[in-house]
Amino acid sequence: MASLLELTSQGDVATISDESKLSQVVLMTPQQLYELWERQPWQTHTIDFTQDREDWAALSDEDKDHIVWFLSSFFIGEERVATQFNGLVGAYEGQSEEAFLTTQQVDEARHAQHFNNFYTQVVGYDGSFEERLDRAREDLNDSFKVLFDDVLVDANRRLLANPGDMEAKVDYVTTYHMVIEGTLALTGQDTLTRVFEGRGILPGFLEGFRKISQDEHRHVAYGTWFLQQKARQDPALARRIVKTLQELIPIAAGVLTPRGFDVGEEYEILGVRSDEVHGFAFQALTRRLKVIGVSLAPVAEDPVAA
Ligand SMILES: [Fe+2]
Ligand SMILES: [Fe+2]
Repeated sequence: MASLLELTSQGDVATISDESKLSQVVLMTPQQLYELWERQPWQTHTIDFTQDREDWAALSDEDKDHIVWFLSSFFIGEERVATQFNGLVGAYEGQSEEAFLTTQQVDEARHAQHFNNFYTQVVGYDGSFEERLDRAREDLNDSFKVLFDDVLVDANRRLLANPGDMEAKVDYVTTYHMVIEGTLALTGQDTLTRVFEGRGILPGFLEGFRKISQDEHRHVAYGTWFLQQKARQDPALARRIVKTLQELIPIAAGVLTPRGFDVGEEYEILGVRSDEVHGFAFQALTRRLKVIGVSLAPVAEDPVAA
C-alpha cells in the first residue's frame, strides 16, 4: 500500500484527490514531519530575480496593482505568523513536537525573507524591512487586520500566559493551521502559482513560492495531526474546533475578497474567478476536517423530530 507521503503533498490530506481514502489515512507524526523538514532545506538569498525585474517592468499598471494586493497579504501574513508563534512552541507536549514546531518558526521567518527580497529587488520598495512592511500594510483589508492583528495575536497571548491550557492550544492551531495556513495561504498560493506559470512570468518569485507551499503543506499536516488527536480524546474539544471555525470562516472569506469588492460578491482577478478561489479553499478545509473527525454541517438538535 502506498505511504501517505506518496499519496499527498507533505502529508497534507487535502491534497488527496481520491476522497474514499480520507477515512483510512494514518497521519504523519511530528517526528516524521521534522525528519521531512531536514530533507528539504532551501535558501532565499540565492534566488536570482533578473528575469523577474524584466517581467515586472512589462506588466500593465492594473496587473501590478492586483499582484501587489495579493502579495502584500502574504508579506504581512508571513511576518505575523513568524512573530506570533512563540506561544505554540512553548506549549509542546513532547520532544518531537517541540522539534517540529521550532522548524516551523524558522520556516515562517524564511518565508518573510523571500517576500522582503522580492519587494526590494523587483517591486522596488526602498528603505528598511520594517518600512516595506508598513507600506505593504496599506494594501490590507479590514478582515485581514481582524484575523491577523486581533484573533491570532490574542490566541498567541493566551498560550504564552498559560502553555498548559489545552483549550487555548486547540483554538490557536484551529486559527493558525486550519484557517490561516490551510484555508487562506494555500489557496492564495495555488491561485497565484497557476497565474504566473500560465503567463510564464516571475520565475525567481515562483522558485521561492513553490518552496513556501511545500513548507506550508508540512505545517498544515502537523495541525491536522494535532487536532485529530485532541478531537478523538475529548468531544468537547471537537465541538470547540467547529465553533472556532464557524466564527472565523466568514472573516477568512473577507480576507480573500479583493479590493473594490464586497464579501460574497462575484469577482474575477488576474483571470481567476471567485468561485474557483473559494471552492478550492472550502474543498481543502472539508477534506482535512473529515480526517480530523469533525464536520461543519449543522447537527439537528433533536434527530427524531428532524
Ligand atoms: Fe509561511
Ligand atoms: Fe506556515
